[in-house]
Amino acid sequence: MDNQSLLEFARETAAGAGEILRSNYGRRQKIHFKGEINLVTDVDRASEAYIKGRIHARFPDHGIMAEESPEDKSPSPYRWIVDPLDGTTNYAHNYPCFCVSVGVEHDGVPVAGAVYDPLLREMFTATAGGGAFLNGEKLAVSDIGDLRHGLLATGFAYDVKTSTDKNFDYFQSFVMTGQAIRRDGSAALDLCYLATGRFDGFWEMQLKPWDTIAGLLILQEAGGMATRMDGSPYDIHQPDVLATNGRIHGQMLEVIRRVAGR
Ligand code: IPD
Ligand code: CA
Ligand code: CA
Repeated sequence: MDNQSLLEFARETAAGAGEILRSNYGRRQKIHFKGEINLVTDVDRASEAYIKGRIHARFPDHGIMAEESPEDKSPSPYRWIVDPLDGTTNYAHNYPCFCVSVGVEHDGVPVAGAVYDPLLREMFTATAGGGAFLNGEKLAVSDIGDLRHGLLATGFAYDVKTSTDKNFDYFQSFVMTGQAIRRDGSAALDLCYLATGRFDGFWEMQLKPWDTIAGLLILQEAGGMATRMDGSPYDIHQPDVLATNGRIHGQMLEVIRRVAGR
């Protein structure tokens, strides 16, 4: 199966799921708590059921890892990795920043991905080696080369109230060294915004494969760069990531090293 056909399917699936999010948006949502502040709505579940149903019907032998249900394991080299609603907290509060993320890997390597924001009707797509696009227009990261002019983004994990990680320390240091920071609540969109040049740098410490698979491919295909926060190689199964336009990567790593005392 070629990457372009996989992408076409990912794109149509993200668009269909996005319609489920859009048509239910603004209503009072039925909220279930997975943790003190980690929630899931009926709409996350409806979106996931739709996406998994489509994948099962078209590719019955493929594996599927989706956030809200146990993994469908398979001997197939293809595995779909799905976030049916990235930005659930925003969605539940009627804050208009959320998306659907659908990615697929072949032998563990991400090959195609689509991230769809159904309110702005922005469809971000990429295939490995085939470039990244926003509604069909080719994407490229920003050319900002000085951290002091960089608009940065981050997020805080659901265990923020008990976690001993240093994200508050990093946040404080980047407030002082970057131009400004946004914390918008959708890691997949953060990565896509980096790919478009709206953001110049992004870091987060406890992400999951469904948060990053599609956004990371889109970022890389737009010329961006991602490593772990200690500078070692990143892949979507690692929890922490530093992603940038490439040009300010070294400067951000330097700040992180200073804070981490490395
Ligand atoms: C969350 C969002 C958020 C990030 C969290 C993620 P969810 O995903 O991407 O921006 O800070 O780490 O868990 O729960 O809305 O799908
Ligand atoms: Ca997510
Ligand atoms: Ca989610």
